[in-house]
Amino acid sequence: MVQHKGNGQSWASGHYDGKLSFVSELGRGVVDLLQPVEGERILDLGCGTGDLTQEIAASGAHVTGMDLSYSMLEKARTKYPQLTFVEGNAERFTTEEPYDAVFSNAALHWMKNAEEVVKCVHAALISGGRFVAEFGGQHNVEIAVQAITQVLKEQGVDAASLNPWYFPSIGEYSSLLEKQGFRVTYALHFDRPTPMQDGEIGLRHWLNGFAGPFFRDVSPEFKEAAYDRIEQITRPDLYDNGNWAVDYKRLRIRAIKM
Ligand SMILES: C[S@@+](CC[C@H](N)C(=O)[O-])C[C@H]1O[C@@H](n2cnc3c(N)ncnc32)[C@H](O)[C@@H]1O
Repeated sequence: MVQHKGNGQSWASGHYDGKLSFVSELGRGVVDLLQPVEGERILDLGCGTGDLTQEIAASGAHVTGMDLSYSMLEKARTKYPQLTFVEGNAERFTTEEPYDAVFSNAALHWMKNAEEVVKCVHAALISGGRFVAEFGGQHNVEIAVQAITQVLKEQGVDAASLNPWYFPSIGEYSSLLEKQGFRVTYALHFDRPTPMQDGEIGLRHWLNGFAGPFFRDVSPEFKEAAYDRIEQITRPDLYDNGNWAVDYKRLRIRAIKM
């Protein structure tokens, strides 16, 4: 099932699990940073199809997955019927009971209203609770975005107004956290060139899964031609030895509610 929300992004859970499973696989390190403990109450914000929610639950923690997408939630509930998944918008959510920790992998950069997200997370935590997250940092997927921008500009389309992502620097995001009353105990902004699967068509999996908002107003024929051009422009940087690897730069943070 495919679903459109707000910024024009469609979350197709089948394509996500089938062709983009690297997202949750590479997010396992963020669970290590979380260090979930048996009996803790943990919220997985932007849980997607639930693979890391399950990983957290394996520690014995009581975890709830929250997501905005019906398609992703439906898949998560099918895969992990023993876990709790709720529909919610991370930019404006409240919780009945506070959590010991809020976790998030690969989701916060889809939420442009970051200040509201940080406020909601802060309110959702107990005092001393932790917020552990990884998402796209400054300059994330920049080579891909520049190529998309160039190709859309050739057709008179302004990509900046369609860009769905928020990729802050460590300084920017740490300031946001500190302003809200968090103490940042860990922050890392690192290069993570990310291999795509299926060789020659790998970049298309990424474009189809994540870059939809840029192409929401163009015809399928235009999009197909644009994909060809984007491949041509990025090939020298992102294609090597039969495989595509997208220029990810991640921000990983751990912050404690004061
Ligand atoms: C790339 S997926 C990551 C999913 C999962 N955390 C993982 O590691 O596989 C991003 C998820 O963020 C969710 N998302 C985006 N904006 C959201 C919002 N405002 N509130 C809640 N979830 C949101 C999407 O629906 C999607 O499931």
